[in-house]
Amino acid sequence: MSVEKLRNLCLKAKAIAKEISKKEEITVVTHVDADGITSGAIALQTLKTLGKECEIKFVKQLDENSLEKIADENNFVWFTDLGSGQIDLIEKLKIECVITDHHIPIKKVDYQLNPHDFGIDGSYELGGAPTTYLVSRCLINDRTLSTLAIVGCVGDLQDSKFGMLKSYNRVILGEGIKENVLEKLRDIRLFGKQTRPVHKMLEYTFDPYLPGISGNENGAIKFMRSINVDPVKNGSWRRWIDLSKEEKVKITSSLVKLLMKYSYPIKTIERLVGEVYILKNQPEGTELKDAMEFSTLLNATARYGYEEVGLNVCLGVCKSISERKFEVAFKKARNLLRNHRKNLSDGVKLVNEIGIKEMDNIQYFHAQDRIIDTIVGIVAGMCYSIAKLNKPIIAFAKSDDGIKVSARATQNLVERGINLAEAMRLAAEKIGGKGGGHSIAAGAIIPEGKEEEFLFELNKIIGVQFKK
Ligand code: C5P
Ligand code: C5P
Ligand code: ZN
Repeated sequence: MSVEKLRNLCLKAKAIAKEISKKEEITVVTHVDADGITSGAIALQTLKTLGKECEIKFVKQLDENSLEKIADENNFVWFTDLGSGQIDLIEKLKIECVITDHHIPIKKVDYQLNPHDFGIDGSYELGGAPTTYLVSRCLINDRTLSTLAIVGCVGDLQDSKFGMLKSYNRVILGEGIKENVLEKLRDIRLFGKQTRPVHKMLEYTFDPYLPGISGNENGAIKFMRSINVDPVKNGSWRRWIDLSKEEKVKITSSLVKLLMKYSYPIKTIERLVGEVYILKNQPEGTELKDAMEFSTLLNATARYGYEEVGLNVCLGVCKSISERKFEVAFKKARNLLRNHRKNLSDGVKLVNEIGIKEMDNIQYFHAQDRIIDTIVGIVAGMCYSIAKLNKPIIAFAKSDDGIKVSARATQNLVERGINLAEAMRLAAEKIGGKGGGHSIAAGAIIPEGKEEEFLFELNKIIGVQFKK
């Protein structure tokens, strides 16, 4: 982290804020995932507080089609969590706008705040929601919004590389802690500590893969019993937050021992424990308490076309909608989460049935129309429970625009040189598709019928990455 860069970032945020303050009517346009919803919520809440006339639109991807519709409305636009990759189109269509995004920009323009323009990595140093928060802060200085910024960050897995938030993300975390709305704890970094039974939390952990436990409910229960931690108390399953400190230490150290027994790289083992982020003002034992669970709740809405539900949960946390409206949204979001979990587990079952095919450097499955395109990537990540750990997993599914491809690696593979964003982009471009994302998780859209050709190209590119 450099003070100089932070100063420049803040100066630019101020300039963007000034542009926004001049406008009376603004449309916020954002992405349909946890990071996008929180970014959009921060922008909307800012504009509402300023008394501006505003509305929000969610897009699956920003392409010529969606941008033309936006251009037709002729309103000033605030793009959040997207836009930097489409500046050419935005200019061609003469859309008057500002952009706060963290994806790699195609060029530097004065109406854009993007960490990459300052030599800051947008995949772990400053996320999309924090980028938007920096502008919001110049306009209304509501530091409680740092909670949403951090939820977005975690939803984008900005903390997965080091097991904690780093760099400029950390500055924003610090603001939330100072404001007494956030707390950072050293704890096990598994999903579901607030709401899931411990054995379920362990069963659903696939990165790192826990031998004998991952994907194996009985194995998880046996593991707990073997170290004298009872999975049940007074007739109900115990959650992580119900365990005593000693029991938590017992589980954590036994997992470390287990991974050591299987000769896991030390970095993988270290990542098991790290920082977790707590929303201090939210009720204990709910999805809203833990940033990781909060962001999954948001994904369970947006990935099924219910972005408004996720948005209202965020606005409720900001206290900017009625209690009643929030309660309705939260209830709906929890239902969607249940549905999401079922879809995920059905997805993994399906892959088990159809099998994963292997090539030299990659492995893949084709879900056709039996897994929806918006979650096939998440399913692919979970399939490390049944797939080889030493190759990326590639998943195909049908979508409205052609074939959706999702790719997932492990942190370990990334450390060995795999960059899925680059590989997916290159392979897709070779056959008339488009792709991108992050080194550990990427996606693409390709023409139907080109799957074989795509696999051939991708297998070759990944092979080269392994050699380097
Ligand atoms: O959809 P999925 O979860 O597999 O996306 C993983 C990553 O790939 C995301 O960061 C997404 O923005 C990116 N992606 C992309 N181009 C696509 C599809 C996904 O850059 N056509
Ligand atoms: O579009 P965007 O960049 O926000 O997409 C990020 C997605 O990439 C997450 O929703 C997650 O599914 C995936 N991802 C992952 N593992 C990581 C980082 C990202 O599965 N370590
Ligand atoms: Zn993002």
